[in-house]
Amino acid sequence: MTEPIIRCNGLSHTYKGMVLALDQIELQVHEGEILGIIGQNGSGKTTLVKHLNGLLKPTSGTVTVDGMDTRKVTVNTLSRTVGYVFQNPNHQLFANSVNAEISFGPSNLGLGAAEANQRIEEAVQFFDLQVFRTIHPYRLSFPIRKMVCMAAVFAMRPKVMVLDEPTTGQDHAGVDRVHELIRKLQESHTTVIMVSHDMRLEAAVADRIVVLRDGRILAEGSPRQVFAQAEILKSTNLQAPQVAQLGQRIGLGLTLTVPEFIQQYTNWRPVSEAEDHGE
Ligand SMILES: Nc1ncnc2c1ncn2[C@@H]1O[C@H](COP(=O)(O)OP(=O)(O)O)[C@@H](O)[C@H]1O
Ligand SMILES: [Mg+2]
Repeated sequence: MTEPIIRCNGLSHTYKGMVLALDQIELQVHEGEILGIIGQNGSGKTTLVKHLNGLLKPTSGTVTVDGMDTRKVTVNTLSRTVGYVFQNPNHQLFANSVNAEISFGPSNLGLGAAEANQRIEEAVQFFDLQVFRTIHPYRLSFPIRKMVCMAAVFAMRPKVMVLDEPTTGQDHAGVDRVHELIRKLQESHTTVIMVSHDMRLEAAVADRIVVLRDGRILAEGSPRQVFAQAEILKSTNLQAPQVAQLGQRIGLGLTLTVPEFIQQYTNWRPVSEAEDHGE
C-alpha cells in the first residue's frame, strides 16, 4: 500500500497544560479514503482534526501530512494540502462578501486568473450560492454560512478536505448537498475526513470510521464493523443509524442505508411467517 497521506504517531494534546484532549492517537489516512470520525461531545474530534492542518500542534507525538511534519511548516503551507471546514462557520469567515470569501483561496494559490475564476464559479454553482454573492456572510443563516465555508475550501482543491460537523443545522436539501459533495470529492480522489454526529451520513459515505472516547480511539473499522458493535457504541452514547437499528430489531440483520434495507427486506420473510405457511 502507498504511504499514508496523514500519519499521527503517539499524538497527544493537552490544552493549557490541564485538559488531556488527545491521548496517544495512532492513525493513518490513505489517499482517496473517506474517513468518518465519531464520538460524543468533548471526545476530542475537533482537537484531532485541527492537528491535520497545523491549527494545533501536538503536545507530544507527531503528525505528518504528505511528508511534512506539522510542527515544521506553517498553517498557510499545510492548508494548501489539508482544507479544513470549521465546525463553527463564524471561526472561518472573514471577508465582507460571499464572493470575496470564496475567491480568497483560489486567488492566493498563484493560479492563472482563468483557472482561479473557473474554480470560484464551480464552487458557487455547486453550493447554489449565486444569489448570495454580494451579501455579507454574517447576514446569512447558519446553514448557508456553512455552505459558504465548504465552498471556500472546495475552491482551493486541497488533497485532503476535513469537514467538521458538515450537516449540523442543514435542512433536507442541505444534507443531500453534503452527500453529493462527498461523492464528488471521492470521484476526484480527494481524501475526505468528516467529523459528524450524523450517523446516517457516516453509514452512507464513510469507507472507515474511527470512534473516539476521552481522547482515545475506542473502535475502528468499516461502517458495518463499527455499527455492529452496539455495546461499544452505547458505552459512549452513540447509536447506529435508525435504519440499522430497525433492521436488527426485526431480525433482518444489519442494513446501513434505506436502499439497502429495502433491498434486503424485499427478499426476506421472518422465520415465523415462513412457519405459518407450513414451509
Ligand atoms: N480551547 C480549549 N481550551 C481548553 N480545553 C478545550 C479547548 N477546546 C477543547 N477543549 C476540551 O478538550 C476536549 C475535547 O474537545 P473537542 O476536541 O472540542 O471535542 P469534540 O469535537 O469531540 O466535541 C474537551 O474536554 C474540551 O472541553
Ligand atoms: Mg467538535
